[in-house]
Amino acid sequence: MSGHEPVLPDEVLQALNVQPDGIYLDCTAGRGGHSGIILDRLGPQGRLHIFDLDPESIAFLRQRFSTDARVLVRHASYADLGAHCREHGCHGQVAGVLFDLGAASPQFDQGARGFSFQHDGPLDMRFDTSRGRTAADWLRDAPVREITDVLKQLGEERYARRVARAIIDARATAPITRTHQLRDIVAAAIPFRERDRHPATRTFQAIRIHVNHELENLAAALPQALAALRPGGRLAVISFHSLEDRIVKRYLRAQARGDHHPSDMPVLAVELKPELRLIGPAQHPTAAEIARNPRARSAVLRVAEKVAA
Ligand SMILES: C[S@@+](CC[C@H](N)C(=O)[O-])C[C@H]1O[C@@H](n2cnc3c(N)ncnc32)[C@H](O)[C@@H]1O
Repeated sequence: MSGHEPVLPDEVLQALNVQPDGIYLDCTAGRGGHSGIILDRLGPQGRLHIFDLDPESIAFLRQRFSTDARVLVRHASYADLGAHCREHGCHGQVAGVLFDLGAASPQFDQGARGFSFQHDGPLDMRFDTSRGRTAADWLRDAPVREITDVLKQLGEERYARRVARAIIDARATAPITRTHQLRDIVAAAIPFRERDRHPATRTFQAIRIHVNHELENLAAALPQALAALRPGGRLAVISFHSLEDRIVKRYLRAQARGDHHPSDMPVLAVELKPELRLIGPAQHPTAAEIARNPRARSAVLRVAEKVAA
């Protein structure tokens, strides 16, 4: 199994401000790139709880960190991190939480996972291959309206209705079960060619986000991460597209304003109780990092600190 070069490594370490005896959560551990650099800063009393939905990543992580007593590996969704922290007695005690959203390079690189139109494989796209419906399952019977909405909202696909119609027409002849089959249906349906983007890019992104409930999981996880942190604890989130970044940005800003009141209710600034303090503006990879690791290209890191009660 190939490795995964962590995105924005120096910025993440600075964002988390790793304390040797702190408890940290790596919510999207992947191949353990970020986990590894966090562990390098942790002392013997420090703890790192790591999550991933992908059974292959979990097998890899268990192996990689098998001899490190500071690491706890969980095959679970980060959307369940609150329950995890209560179960492990670290609720409100966590020093830092990291999310590095989306899919990992090894997932894209394996045709068998169905994430990429560049490799032929079964149209799966689930992070958690042990449960849930695959992309092929969804495409088998989703109504045209639903497919259109998913492509429009999660892929920002201009030709969403056209592509959805083409999918419905194609599946009337044969079920759509392979990535290259879907790629060709989409390419034939889109009349316009972008210079550096394959026409199926948006459709594949949309279906992946939909099948894995990515935006719902993120929206559910952020308040749990905030509740899990101790005062002074850091929250760091790396997003790869505008839909997830918008959720993160809005959540962090709302918590930093402490603005939980109806907008028409007059409140004094001192009555607002911000729960987070934003740490700097959004951060992006340098040109040197992008040259070294092209996957970092669209990464955006946002960081906030829990305010003492
Ligand atoms: C961009 S990769 C993370 C790479 C990792 N930071 C590294 O350096 O190796 C994102 C990972 O998040 C996992 N993932 C996606 N949704 C998840 C969820 N709801 N809960 C836990 N893990 C999830 C994916 O399986 C994938 O391995």
